[in-house]
Amino acid sequence: MTIQRVASKWAKTKIILNNKGLASYVPSTRQYTLEALEEMLNIHTLVFIKPDRGTYGIGVMSVEELAIANQAGETETTYKLRHDQKTEIFSSVESLHNTLQPLFKGQAYLIQKGIHLLRHQGRPFDLRVLTQKSPAGQWVSTGIIGRVAAKNKIITNHHSGGVVHHYKPLMLEHMTDTEAENIRRELYVLGVNVAAQLQKSYPHLKEIGLDVAIDNRWNIWILEVNTKPALFPFKKFFKDPSVYQKVKKYANAYGRKLSSKKKAN
Ligand SMILES: Nc1ncnc2c1ncn2[C@@H]1O[C@H](COP(=O)(O)OP(=O)(O)O)[C@@H](O)[C@H]1O
Ligand SMILES: [Mg+2]
Repeated sequence: MTIQRVASKWAKTKIILNNKGLASYVPSTRQYTLEALEEMLNIHTLVFIKPDRGTYGIGVMSVEELAIANQAGETETTYKLRHDQKTEIFSSVESLHNTLQPLFKGQAYLIQKGIHLLRHQGRPFDLRVLTQKSPAGQWVSTGIIGRVAAKNKIITNHHSGGVVHHYKPLMLEHMTDTEAENIRRELYVLGVNVAAQLQKSYPHLKEIGLDVAIDNRWNIWILEVNTKPALFPFKKFFKDPSVYQKVKKYANAYGRKLSSKKKAN
């Protein structure tokens, strides 16, 4: 039987938003247009712009609204675009849009409220929650890892130099053991609930990888849901081999070939 994969972040986001219990985990998201960019920047001081069908963090950018003093000492609103390692400042949303437009190369993009991620040694990190269908047909969250961005990067993806860390020590830099365990439990339940919600539209779904941000008030935000999540980070990393054994056992049972490292995200 085939394993269902869904590329469009927008399609998946709309399905998750249909569930009241899950909608509050999703940062406000719009399809990119100049109007949407203007409206989002009126509401949020940080937004992320990303390809609807992107992977590996490719094409993910951020825009931050900044008030700076000009030469006359007046305060001006500017927009700081970060893309790859580059930073550019714009004095209007229109000029920002004119620079963004050719970068899109005709592809659909999304704008999402930007989350100020928790940090480890000054670098932002987010979390990956892996949820899989068990051989008995139940959704089970089988693992969680932290991903720390490379220096001066705004994205945590492995392909962009992001490094995998254990969940607990990352979280303990910000909270107590009990709080970290409470959040872990909430994330495991969230993975199961998101999988169940997506399965209503995609009946052959077998596995998901939730990209989750935690902000400095410990709110949990779903940045995206991958339907072909990488399994290899769960292999190398854990001292406890039973974690990857279970991941592998479930994956084998639903027919995933584990050699597809290159194409997974
Ligand atoms: N709204 C956001 N706020 C903060 N960081 C974000 C946001 N959206 C994406 N990111 C960062 O960019 C990375 C890649 O974005 P993501 O939506 O997961 O796309 P991809 O499919 O390319 O992995 C995330 O793991 C996270 O580090
Ligand atoms: Mg991602």
